[in-house]
Order: sequence, then C-alpha cells, then structure tokens
Amino acid sequence: MDSSSKFPLPFNQLSQFKSLSDHQKEIQPLKMAELFAAGSGRFSAFNIKAAGLNLDYSKNRINDKTIPLLCDLARACSLPESIKSMFNGDLINQSENRPALHSALRNFSGEPVLVDGKDVMPEIQKTMKRMKEFCWSIRSKHWRGFSNKPFKDVVSIGIGGSFLGPKLASEALKPYWGKGIACHYLANIDGSDLTEVLQGLNPETTLFIVQSKSFNTQETLKNANECREWFLLNGGTTDDLARHFSAVTSNVEKAKQFGINEQNIFPMWDWVGGRYSLWSAIGLPLMLTIGYKNFREMLLGAYEMDCHFQEAPLEQNMPVIMGLLGVWYVNFFNAQSHAVLPYDHYLRNLPSHIQQLDMESNGKSVDVYGRTLDYQAGPIIWGGVGSNGQHAYHQLLHQGTQFVPCDFILPLTSHNPVDQFHELLVSNCLSQSQALMQGKSLAQARSELADSGVDSDQLETVALQKVISGNRPSNTLYFDISTPKTVGALIALYEHKVFVQGKIWGVNSFDQWGVELGKQLGDKVHDALLSEDGLADNAMAAEFDESTQGLIEAFQAMKNKL
Ligand code: F6P
Repeated sequence: MDSSSKFPLPFNQLSQFKSLSDHQKEIQPLKMAELFAAGSGRFSAFNIKAAGLNLDYSKNRINDKTIPLLCDLARACSLPESIKSMFNGDLINQSENRPALHSALRNFSGEPVLVDGKDVMPEIQKTMKRMKEFCWSIRSKHWRGFSNKPFKDVVSIGIGGSFLGPKLASEALKPYWGKGIACHYLANIDGSDLTEVLQGLNPETTLFIVQSKSFNTQETLKNANECREWFLLNGGTTDDLARHFSAVTSNVEKAKQFGINEQNIFPMWDWVGGRYSLWSAIGLPLMLTIGYKNFREMLLGAYEMDCHFQEAPLEQNMPVIMGLLGVWYVNFFNAQSHAVLPYDHYLRNLPSHIQQLDMESNGKSVDVYGRTLDYQAGPIIWGGVGSNGQHAYHQLLHQGTQFVPCDFILPLTSHNPVDQFHELLVSNCLSQSQALMQGKSLAQARSELADSGVDSDQLETVALQKVISGNRPSNTLYFDISTPKTVGALIALYEHKVFVQGKIWGVNSFDQWGVELGKQLGDKVHDALLSEDGLADNAMAAEFDESTQGLIEAFQAMKNKL
C-alpha cells in the first residue's frame, strides 16, 4: 500500500529515524569497555528504579545522546498519546475492534474504566470477589470432593495465554504456596502430557479448571473431555462434576454445554488478550495455591508498574527504555533475537511466557494500516535459566556471529539461602554480562596461552580461537527478592515493553491472525489421518502437497502395523 497516503509515515521514514541512523555510525566503533574505562558514571546514569525493580542498562551500545534520540523517535511515533489511549480503553486492537484493557484487571486507582461507555470496574471487582470466595472455600476445606475429602490437587487445563502466564507465576511464587494444594498444568494435545499429569492423582481430591477464553481451542477441549472421562471412570458421577469442574471463559454457553455449572464459570472479557490474561480469573489456579492476599499483591505490583509507565518521562521510563533499546538493536544493529536469562530457579518459565507475549504480539509483517513492513519488527525471544544456559548456549552469545542482546533477571537474595549458593549464582550472572561487554583481546589470549606453556607454532592459531569480541549488550534487571509484587511488576514491565515496540513498528500487538491457518489446515489433516482407506480417495489426496501426503501415509502405515 502506498505509504505516501493519508496514514502516518512508517517510523523508518521519519527524520528521527535518520538521526538515529547517523548516530549509529558514531556508536558502531565505540567499545563499551572503553566507555566504562573513561569513568563516566555510566552505572548511575543508565539506571532506573520502578515498582521495586532496578534496571541497569549501562552495558548497552549507547552514549548520552542515544536515549534522547530514541525518545525523540518515540514521540514522533506518538508513544505518549498511545499509552494514554491504551489505558483509556480506546479501540487500539483495530483488527478486532477492541480495547486492550488488561490494566483494568489491576486498577487500584479507584477510577472507572469505560468500555462502550460502561464502567467495567464493578464487574471486575465482582469477579475478583467470587474468585476470593471460591479459593477460600477450597483452601479452608469447606468445598470438598464427592467423597467429602478436601482437595489436594488442581489441574489447570489450558494452552497459550491460558497456560503460560499462570504456570510462570505459580512456579515463580512457589515459596508462597499454601499447604495442601498443588497445581498441575495440562496444555498439550499429547497423551503423554495428559498421562503424566493424571498419574498419581486421586479423582476424589482433584479439582479441574478448564481455562479457555474461546472455549473452542482443540487442545483444551480434548484434554477437558479426557479429564472428565477419567473422572467418571474413577469413581466420579455426572452429579459430582459440579464439585470438581470449573471454567474460566468468555464463552459461558459452551462451558455450560460441556457440563460445568454456571456458578463455577468465571468470566473473561474480549478486551483482555489471552497472553495478557494472567490478572483475570485465568489466574485462578495461582490464587488457589498462593491465596488471595498474595494474588492481590501480584496485581498491586503490576499496578505500580502501570503507574510508572503512565507517569514517568520517557527518558526515565523502564518499559520505554527497554522497548527502545530493543528497537535500537533490531533496527540499527540488525539483531534477529533477544535472550531472556533469569538467574533464578523459580523464574525459569519467564522466557516461555515472554515468548508468547512478545512474539504473538509483535511477530507481524503488516502494520495497522495494512502496509507491508520494509523493516524488521518482533525479534525471536529465547533464553532459559542461568547458570544452566552457560553450559548450553552462552558460547553463541559470547563468540557467535549472531548479535544477541540479553536481559539478565536477578533477585539479589534467595528464598533458599543454602551455603554460598546464592553468591555463586549472582557471581555467574554478573560475570556473564561483564564478559559479554568486555570480551577477551588477542593479546590477552596470547599471553594466557604463553603463560600456560603452549608451544609457539600452535599459539597463534589457538589464540585466535580464544578471542571474544565483547561489546555485546545486556540489561540487568535486579530486585531484592522474588515476591508476588515484584513478579507482578516484572510481568507488567514486559507487557509494556512489548507495547512500546509495537507502537514504534506500527503493528497491532493485540491480535494474532497468524495462528488461524494452522488450525484450519489441521482439521483436514486430522480427517485424513483418521480415514480408514488412507489417501486412496484421490479427492482427499488432492487436498495435500506431496510432503503432507507422504507424511500422512507414513503415519497410516505405522498405524496399520500396530
Ligand atoms: O495461540 C492462539 C491463542 O488464541 C492464544 O492467543 C491464546 O492464549 C491461546 O490460543 C488459547 O486460547 P483460548 O484461551 O481461547 O483457549
């Protein structure tokens, strides 16, 4: 589509983009190690505190001009106005004609939030009250199973945003789990996932929560049906379903058709995207394990980050700085991916949640006006828990040809202060970001080898293998300890970082049309896999390319052998 039309210019055609391109040429040759050596007070200059989190962004390829130039670009892309628009409930999810109001779920301002002119806060508060009562009745053993035993296990059946957020938060907050209720997550359409989850569970003391905004997701419905079968085959009756099954969905009718009593159905609203829904009743499994008070603390942490995001000037705004640094690397240093590296066992699922949050939001190639992007947008998000990653993929981070900016996430204290462990974990985290920044020169490599007695004809070749370029950027997000509040703030931080980037790239961060095709094609493949006469039916075979046909036939050949 012609970008010279009535729509705003794409960001890469703005003068502010040009200024940044020129600036990048200045920055490119600079070594961060030298910038630090110059004693410029970088650590205090490039540090932001908000909602209990601290961001050290001094190990970035920036000088004192970079952030102002990035903020100029953000203003030229109307970022401040867009932030207001989101919190106001404007229809910013244009392709679905919806607001994006996950922030309303954690709105402690006392102010109304209007959707179609109606304040949604009373409904949110009513649902939160129902969740609190539901959890209290179960945790206090008033609500019991069909044999009058208290519940011991909750099985949360859901996938995507109906799985990743709750799983991240409940494992991140394991130290806050109350006694007596363990949470299990069932997501995949894989009999092994189902078998593993149900293994060892007692239907008398197991509660199932079917988590699905649409109540139309193949994996979730299949798993829910199979869990209901398991329940009915192991002592439960249809009359007992009401005690043992609940649902969180915006499709109440379908949940009732499944056989769930209406009073056990908690609402979701279409102005909350799946990957942004942890704060809604989708967080019920989490509330069952950590209790209402801790869940509310998590909401409060997210709310504090919301306030910071709305109030702090762009230059001192944590989500804005993280978002703009990401744009700096994707669009001016050609970064294709971004690594999220939590140095905390309990936060080990953070990368998986951020993968959906970021890649399902900004993994787009058309802007909100339908124009194909002629620049990179959402990067590939990956990562894993430290220090394990150091023994898996940090080699690439240090010496690979890929330029991968990293986020290190670090609680300064541990919930389990075992002898010296935390000091070692912290030293690993800090030294990894230090090594990425400073690297190892050829001269250093040579002298190390010479000192270790390597003979001269080998020395040069090996020394060259040992050079570490350094100058590889990272952020370090650190905080006292993982609490419900800091976890809430951390997740909200990344939600807003993604929003900032989506605004700069001009994409709609709140729809996900790309996942529809796979679902549509899946139905036809599934029919072919189940058909008795295989692809002998030419009409069916003609539906598929040769590869898909071959794979279907291989599956059927195996099935016929069994
Ligand atoms: O991946 C597509 C998607 O729609 C996600 O956005 C969503 O979180 C997930 O599937 C599950 O959807 P539902 O909650 O409707 O089952």
